[in-house]
Amino acid sequence: MNLTRAFGAELDALRAAGTFKHFNTLLTPQGPVVEMTGRGEVIVLSSNNYLGLANDPRVVEAGIDGLRRYGAGTASVRFICGTFQPHVELEHALAELSGTEAALTYVSCWNANEALVSTLTDEGTVILSDALNHASIVDAIRLARPARKAIYPHSDLDALQRELAACEPGQRKLVITDGVFSMEGDLARLPEIVELARAHDAIVIVDDSHGVGVLGEHGLGTPEHFGLRGEVDVITGTLGKALGGAAGGYVAAGADICELLAQRSRPQLFSNALPATVACSALAAVEALRDDPSLVARLRANTHRFRTMLVDAGFAPIPGDSAIIPIVVGETAVAIRFSERLLEHGIFVTGFGFPVVPEGTARVRVQMSAALEPDHLARALAAFVAVGREFDLIR
Ligand SMILES: Cc1ncc(COP(=O)(O)O)c(C=O)c1O
Repeated sequence: MNLTRAFGAELDALRAAGTFKHFNTLLTPQGPVVEMTGRGEVIVLSSNNYLGLANDPRVVEAGIDGLRRYGAGTASVRFICGTFQPHVELEHALAELSGTEAALTYVSCWNANEALVSTLTDEGTVILSDALNHASIVDAIRLARPARKAIYPHSDLDALQRELAACEPGQRKLVITDGVFSMEGDLARLPEIVELARAHDAIVIVDDSHGVGVLGEHGLGTPEHFGLRGEVDVITGTLGKALGGAAGGYVAAGADICELLAQRSRPQLFSNALPATVACSALAAVEALRDDPSLVARLRANTHRFRTMLVDAGFAPIPGDSAIIPIVVGETAVAIRFSERLLEHGIFVTGFGFPVVPEGTARVRVQMSAALEPDHLARALAAFVAVGREFDLIR
């Protein structure tokens, strides 16, 4: 087979449609302002660096110290000889943060979701999943091959109730939802989901990757926001967003579930553990969140401020309480051009289109950070207004 011809045609089609993604290279640490190859300094409104901890001195120093004390990596999976003290300490801290008995880390939340769903699924299990759940959950369900899967329309809890009622007695039922939906920025209707799950003896799993560090008075996530700490059976999350932004993920749950995952889940058994240096910097990030509540308050104030600025300027972002502010612009190529024009104004906001979001609902997605200063927001708004007028999105 001529691979160049086969795959080249596919790439050409992306280029012709204006949907080819160009990667921008950063020359400085992730932060409110970065230096980008060929562009100079730009203001970042599209990173997952919600609390500004990616380049926080406490987090960086902890990683350097971890690197010196434990070396570059584990050179082993956890159960052979790859469990280091920082893993144990980080897992205690994540359990405390999540309000669960235990936690177990993975090299990514993608891995954590795949590990969890496959391990909890037996031949008779039914999985009930929101249609807008993250791709890692979609793939995890495919891999787990449950007896039945029910993908209910986004946040349609009547549909969820019907699907739960259709399960057979004794079947294991897993209700899986994002805490914050990453492309919409809206929240799962967690109080009703937990109530429905209790009524039908189902297990609730919340992927709180975009909620932890962001929602709730102390940044403990979507369960805290809804006053449901301790009521969600299993929480998964990433260390690659608010909690330092490096990499890694976790499952937080009862001790038995975490123990079973450590014993049985394939990404634990067959893939190297999180590097100790990453565990050290993630632990410092969790401690910063615990010890410095002003970080969450600053993120919330920035989000409220920029949302209000956008609305006052005539934009209609999708409503929501998270730090994600999406503005729908229509076709994928439009979203990409919109983001390119913003970049020409020195503002880095990514455009998302099909297949990440449905056709015709392509969007630019703003993500706030506690590290952004009022001047950054003012400059970003000026660029949004100029480009928004160009694209006839506002007058
Ligand atoms: C809801 C959700 N789950 C999981 C992930 C994957 O996280 P990680 O980068 O740790 O694999 C993401 C990242 O985009 C996410 O938004």
